[in-house]
Amino acid sequence: MKLSKRLKEVETLIEKDRNVIDVGCDHALLDIYLALNRQNIKITATDISSNAIEGAKKNAKYYKVEDKINFIVTNGLNNLKINSNDILVITGMGGYTMLDILKNNNLPNTLILSAHKDIELIRREIVKLGYYIKKEKAVFDKKWYVIILFEKGLENYEEDDYILGLYTKNNKEYMNYLYEKNKKIALKTNKKNDILKKIEKYL
Ligand SMILES: C[S@@+](CC[C@H](N)C(=O)[O-])C[C@H]1O[C@@H](n2cnc3c(N)ncnc32)[C@H](O)[C@@H]1O
Repeated sequence: MKLSKRLKEVETLIEKDRNVIDVGCDHALLDIYLALNRQNIKITATDISSNAIEGAKKNAKYYKVEDKINFIVTNGLNNLKINSNDILVITGMGGYTMLDILKNNNLPNTLILSAHKDIELIRREIVKLGYYIKKEKAVFDKKWYVIILFEKGLENYEEDDYILGLYTKNNKEYMNYLYEKNKKIALKTNKKNDILKKIEKYL
């Protein structure tokens, strides 16, 4: 089984022998890949949609790993048993939905988050929850995605780190993309876009 470039990047951030809880798994491709390729890990795949979980179970059955994944229909982290050493993965949702899922919950020490929008908000809010950015990647897979590995701990960040990414600001291709995107927004809205000046430093 071959994962998309985006999900493969997520997978490479998952440390060996750590258990995974994938919230909003949809087709559960990441979880099936983990079940096929890693031994001795517990995988929990959840989704708010019972249809998604039904489809995910069928996929897992096709790959003969249905017994290796614990499928749960639930909203966010409701009714999930989370250990501090588990890795919580949430990808492919907007930043606000992710924050709704994460707030007021007992969270594990490691979070892998990839929001398709509001990435700056995710950085700021997750750091406020007592995490630091351990790793971060911008991946082009038909479009750009940012995947962030947060670990429990305190760190101080500059504005550029939140807005452009602690590590992604050094990715010239990604900065070019952000620059062009923000230039278009500035032209469309006829407003000065302060972010352009910030990005210019990294081009
Ligand atoms: C675009 S899919 C992403 C699938 C997969 N994580 C990925 O990155 O390819 C988003 C999934 O999140 C699920 N979802 C949305 N809100 C949710 C919530 N509050 N709790 C659990 N799942 C949720 C949706 O039902 C959908 O299956």
